[in-house]
Amino acid sequence: TRQWRGVIEEYRDRLPVGPDTEVVTLREGGTPLVPAQVLSERTGCEVHLKVEGANPTGSFKDRGMTMAITRAKEEGAQAVICASTGNTSASAAAYAGRAGMVCAVLVPKGKIALGKMGQALVHGAKILQVDGNFDDCLTLARGLADKYPVSLVNSVNPVRIEGQKTAAFEVVDMLGDAPDLHVLPVGNAGNITAYWRGYQEYAADGSSSRRPRMWGFQASGSAPIVRGEPVKDPQTIATAIRIGNPASWEFAERARDESGGRIDEVTDRQILSAYRLLASREGVFVEPASAASVAGLLKSAELGLVDPGQRIVCTVTGNGLKDPDWAVAGAPQPVVVPVDADVAAERLGLA
Ligand code: F0G
Repeated sequence: TRQWRGVIEEYRDRLPVGPDTEVVTLREGGTPLVPAQVLSERTGCEVHLKVEGANPTGSFKDRGMTMAITRAKEEGAQAVICASTGNTSASAAAYAGRAGMVCAVLVPKGKIALGKMGQALVHGAKILQVDGNFDDCLTLARGLADKYPVSLVNSVNPVRIEGQKTAAFEVVDMLGDAPDLHVLPVGNAGNITAYWRGYQEYAADGSSSRRPRMWGFQASGSAPIVRGEPVKDPQTIATAIRIGNPASWEFAERARDESGGRIDEVTDRQILSAYRLLASREGVFVEPASAASVAGLLKSAELGLVDPGQRIVCTVTGNGLKDPDWAVAGAPQPVVVPVDADVAAERLGLA
């Protein structure tokens, strides 16, 4: 058996790299597709989780970042910049550090999870907290990339989407064909765009016999695509998708319409409930934003919108360890016991 080589080496002929391109990789991708027992039971379907938190920096962003940093290095860039709700900055910092490049990140002040901030810091990024939201950060990042010698690695950079489409390839390669339905959280809308591109490419050359319907879910307080207009002051506990004016808005609508899919919203309460269910019953610890896909599936099933017997894949986009506050919040403090088996047994309810 050989080691997984990373998404560029594994799918080289489907990605915009040349034969001599020197690849910057952490061997991202090749993530588990985990059968979801409880979700399957609740929906009457065969549900799988694409666990993207298993990527090297703990989110799906690594798939796009290996492409973006590989390309930036090939073009001789000395520095890269991104706006981020946290995961893009963690990924950019890691890959840029590996490539010997300076990485600048712009994050919304006070609104990124501590784990992600820690990653950007330890990987050596230069961080600015912007007095504004993600959308303001992206405007600023674009302005800087236009005027100064720094390469933009947000998903408005088309090679990011190219790298991220490999997740759809992996799903088809593992299942033997495309699923009936693919469910994703939606923030800046790059990922739903990327999956749809991947599924379309595979179907076009006969690597799959069909394309799934694409369902995307935004957080209710940050649901511009559902509302049909930008949200000025987006709110949600799922900080990763706290975005009011997604850059890939039109592509997301195209994925929805061309696939016969939907983009809907889930409340923070529904997100947290799915987050707890995933951790406690499926054994998969994700960050809150990632649970939006599962929350959306469960909400849809309750509304009678999920026909039984389908094969469904939910992408869970980021690792729960990035934002553990929500795991601890509201949970009882573990009690303290002496080194005494009888007391411990009593406290555990075993005695
Ligand atoms: N889930 C997680 C964990 C994310 O970090 C993001 C986006 C999304 C879902 C939404 O994906 O933007 O492609 O629709 N995070 C970006 C960031 C915005 O800066 O890390 P999308």
